[in-house]
Amino acid sequence: MSNDKKLSGKCVWITGASSGIGEATAHVLAAEGAELVISARRTEKLTVLAKALQKQGGTVTVAPVDVSDRTAMEALGMQLAEMGGVDILINNAGTMPISPIINGRVDEWDRMIDVNIKGVLYAINAVYSGMAERKDGHIVNISSIAARQTYQSAGVYGGTKHAVRAISDTLRKEAIRFNVRVTDIQPGSVATELPDSIGHEKIRSAVKENMYADDSPILQPQDIANGILYAITQPPYVDVSELLIRPVIQEN
Ligand SMILES: NC(=O)c1ccc[n+]([C@@H]2O[C@H](COP(=O)([O-])OP(=O)(O)OC[C@H]3O[C@@H](n4cnc5c(N)ncnc54)[C@H](OP(=O)(O)O)[C@@H]3O)[C@@H](O)[C@H]2O)c1
Repeated sequence: MSNDKKLSGKCVWITGASSGIGEATAHVLAAEGAELVISARRTEKLTVLAKALQKQGGTVTVAPVDVSDRTAMEALGMQLAEMGGVDILINNAGTMPISPIINGRVDEWDRMIDVNIKGVLYAINAVYSGMAERKDGHIVNISSIAARQTYQSAGVYGGTKHAVRAISDTLRKEAIRFNVRVTDIQPGSVATELPDSIGHEKIRSAVKENMYADDSPILQPQDIANGILYAITQPPYVDVSELLIRPVIQEN
């Protein structure tokens, strides 16, 4: 029987799938026949998403995890390897508690470094050796437009995203000999729950006000999901190394 879905038979692991870009990506990739593993901390949200996708015929495994928990990520990596391995990783989980550096919100800096950098590395580590052995795989890291430039109050967040971009490009070069492709996706402003992670009240209100102003339409999570789908469905000789997607109205 012919099957024209682009991701049939592919196991795709999405971190941060309980909301926003990750959740939208789960919908878009499931529609293309991907067999999904969805992760985040909020198990209830993952379960609701899994049920919705299964109703539409999708194959979904719920794998709750805190990406900053190295031991749990190693255990999950082993579990996924036993299940047959991951073909495509969408390394998307992230947090953005931004504030000026003078405020010294050190716990939030630690959290961003743990989730946005270490979590990304732990997920790569969980799947990379299996992909290298099979000589087939694709790792998609979600960095940000903040990986390309700096913004006041986002020094540490931007630092973590610059790190993800640097890690992605290094990995891309190293992974060529294993036939593993690497893509760094750089979203501009997307309407998601991300600003809820901002602990600094004034900045949280300002970001939200700016994001949801009627006269300034920003991106929807689906717009980034469509970019991810594009990157992972190119012919085998094509590596979409970086993809910057911003709303038309976003100058910087
Ligand atoms: N929205 C934007 O404008 C924008 C722009 C550029 C880049 N990005 C990046 O896009 C990615 C997705 O963000 P989003 O905008 O879709 O925001 P979101 O709706 O807040 O999604 C963030 C996801 O990450 C998960 N997450 C957070 N901490 C986690 C942890 N410790 N362990 C496991 N999962 C964790 C959250 O799930 P749980 O809370 O259930 O764990 C959630 O599913 C992030 O890396 C973000 O930096 C977003």
